Amino acid sequence: MDMEDEIDVRGIRKVYPGAEPSLRGTKLEVQGPVLWARNLARSVHLTSNRAPSVDALTGVDLTVRRGEVFGLIGHNGSGKTTLVKILAGLIAPTAGDGQVAGVPLRRAETIRARVSYVSTTGWMGLEWQLTAEENVRMFGVFCGLDAGSVRRRAQEALRAVELWGDRGKYPSQLSNGMRQRVILARALLLSTPVVLLDEPTVGLDPRTARSILGLIRHRLQKRGQTIVLTDHVTAELEAVADRVAVLDQGRVILCDTPAALAASLGHLTVLRIHTEEAEPPATPPPPEVRLVHCVQRPGPVPTHVWRIHAESGPRVLDAVLNWITADAGGEARVVLVAQSEPSLEDAVRFALPRRDQEDLGRAAATGVGA
Ligand SMILES: Nc1ncnc2c1ncn2[C@@H]1O[C@H](COP(=O)(O)OP(=O)(O)OP(=O)(O)O)[C@@H](O)[C@H]1O
Ligand SMILES: [Mg+2]
Repeated sequence: MDMEDEIDVRGIRKVYPGAEPSLRGTKLEVQGPVLWARNLARSVHLTSNRAPSVDALTGVDLTVRRGEVFGLIGHNGSGKTTLVKILAGLIAPTAGDGQVAGVPLRRAETIRARVSYVSTTGWMGLEWQLTAEENVRMFGVFCGLDAGSVRRRAQEALRAVELWGDRGKYPSQLSNGMRQRVILARALLLSTPVVLLDEPTVGLDPRTARSILGLIRHRLQKRGQTIVLTDHVTAELEAVADRVAVLDQGRVILCDTPAALAASLGHLTVLRIHTEEAEPPATPPPPEVRLVHCVQRPGPVPTHVWRIHAESGPRVLDAVLNWITADAGGEARVVLVAQSEPSLEDAVRFALPRRDQEDLGRAAATGVGA
């Protein structure tokens, strides 16, 4: 481990037991019209759930340097939240070890004091009887800030997430995106060495997402805090993260700077092509083509939207256009052609090999990707 590492974990595994543990030994009680479920000893099973156990993380090594903004990307269920909760000291790994903010992983209680964990998914923990400002302040009080700091930092945080004007509104009077920004304001309250943000921008429109991420990054980095955030949207992380790791089925399959990951596909070019009135070709794609993605957009004129990754070369665009329009007998209209360099998103697509290979397999067989 390096002295500059704020997070350094090795061989992290997490197996969730099959049946929901909180439901074991739970008894149903019916009181009037209300159904209560309470944890009572010596009781019956609430459900017949015998779900098998889940290997949520299967051996994750991760190092995050002090002051770094680190992004975790992955599909639903890939293990992002599980990993973040382990780093926050909220759940224990089944196996593996390491340190977070200088504290060994097994001392979870001490870790929790050095980490701010903000999750915008699931239950958001907003008190509906309190205004936006009171909600943020309450969090500060719970975390042990004195009254003066609470007032000052709550104001600063609400201004940062552009909610100062709406500070007197109750959660029921705020839009989803605004509620989420109340939650994010909490991340700005504390000066813990590590800040963990689980899906900070889900549900925000792209403009707000970018500006809030930029703001958070700026503020937290100024204080020297280390940030780990998860997201599905690679484009946002590309702009804000120093490094990203891609999780797939509980494993880290890629980890590097967004620029380096995109550059790893430097030999490829990305073609975006829209065609009208064209049937997808029945012939296999030209040999330069590595990956084909095509969706049909309904409308008065059916449009096919193609995204094709191919080996760069002077004739690749002609070859691809000929292939796409070959079976149309002069009927096809190409309405858009755009060529770009591979991005982080492309690198992520290529890193998830099985699913993408299926796309190509189908493209070769039938002419159309998924
Ligand atoms: N409390 C739990 N009990 C049992 N299984 C769980 C629990 N939490 C998560 N899992 C399982 O662990 C795996 C990883 O889930 P996790 O929530 O970490 O994924 P994620 O990458 O955060 O997904 P998403 O993008 O949907 O938030 C999934 O298969 C999920 O079903
Ligand atoms: Mg999650």
